[in-house]
Amino acid sequence: MSLTVGIDIGGTKIAGGIVDESGKVVAETRRDSPADHVDAITDAVVDIVEEFRREHPVVAVGVAAAGFLDRERDTVMFAPNLAWRDAPLRSMVKKRVQLPTVLENDANAAAWAEYRFGAGRDARTLALVASGTGIGGGLVIDGRLFLGGFGVGAEFGHMRVVPNGRRCNCGLNGCWEAYGSGTGLTARARELVTEDPAGAPVLVELSGGDIDAIDGRMVTEAAERGDAAAKQCFVELARWLGEGMASLSAVLDPDVFVVGGGVAESPELDLQLVIDAFGPAESGSGHRPAPAIRLAELGNSAGLIGAADLARVQA
Ligand code: BGC
Ligand code: NA
Ligand code: ZN
Repeated sequence: MSLTVGIDIGGTKIAGGIVDESGKVVAETRRDSPADHVDAITDAVVDIVEEFRREHPVVAVGVAAAGFLDRERDTVMFAPNLAWRDAPLRSMVKKRVQLPTVLENDANAAAWAEYRFGAGRDARTLALVASGTGIGGGLVIDGRLFLGGFGVGAEFGHMRVVPNGRRCNCGLNGCWEAYGSGTGLTARARELVTEDPAGAPVLVELSGGDIDAIDGRMVTEAAERGDAAAKQCFVELARWLGEGMASLSAVLDPDVFVVGGGVAESPELDLQLVIDAFGPAESGSGHRPAPAIRLAELGNSAGLIGAADLARVQA
C-alpha cells in the first residue's frame, strides 16, 4: 500500500496527514500557521513530513496552499490572506525532504479530493466553493483539474459582487470573498453591532464590547447561543453564497456544486438557504436542469487528501 503525505497550509493552521490510495487518512497532525513567515511555514511543512516518515514509508508529498500558483506549480505568486509573494514553495520543500513533491492551490486540492472520494464523485463538471478565511474555488471538468492559462484559474473568491464594496485582502473592493467568507461574516457582525448593540447581546458580551475584537469564532458561538445579529450574519452569508454560485453557473454550468470550508462546516450555515438563494438568481432557472448543491463530505481534511492524491498521481 503506497502512502503519501498531504499538507494543507491555510490562513490559521497547517494540517498534515498520511493518506492511502483510497483517500483514507491514516494519521493526522496540526500546527499553527506562522502566516507571515515563508521560512517558518517551510520549516513546519518539513517537520510534519519528517514526523510521518519516522513511522510510515512515504513515497511523495503534496502541499496545498491558499494562494495563486504559477502554471508550473512551483511558486506561490500571491496570497491574499498570507504574506507570500513569489515564494518557490515546492522547490524549497522538495530540496529539504528529498521526495517527489507537488504543489496545488488549497481549494483546487479540496475540489480534487471531493471529486475522487467525496461529494462530487459523480460530477461531470464539479465546482467547489470553500468558505473559510477566504472563498476558495476549485473546478474539475471531465475528470481534470482546471488550472487556467497561467495557473490562477477558479479564483472564485475574487469575483466582484458589489461595486465599490467592502475591501478585500487582495487589495480590491467588493470581492465575493469579502461577503461570503469567515472574514465577511466577521465584517458584517461588526457592522451590525455598531448599528445596534442591543440587538447583539451575546456578541457584545463575548467581545467585551470591543467591536474590533469580534472574530469568526465569536460570531459562530453567538449564533449558537441565539444572538439575533449573529444569526442574521449566517443567513446573509448563505444568500451571498447562493447568489454567487448562480453567477458561476452562468459561466461554468456545473452539474454539481460542493460547498466546503470551515464556515460551511458550521451547523449555523443552513445549506437550504444557499439553495433557496441560488434558484431565483440563476439565469434561465426553471428552464434548465438545476445543479446539485451539496455539502463537502471530507470536511477540513479535503485539502490535504487532495494534495496527497495529486502527489500520488503526478509525482
Ligand atoms: C485565495 C485562494 C484560496 C482561498 C481559500 C483566497 O483568498 O485567493 O487562492 O484558495 O482564499 O483559502
Ligand atoms: Na482555486
Ligand atoms: Zn479579492
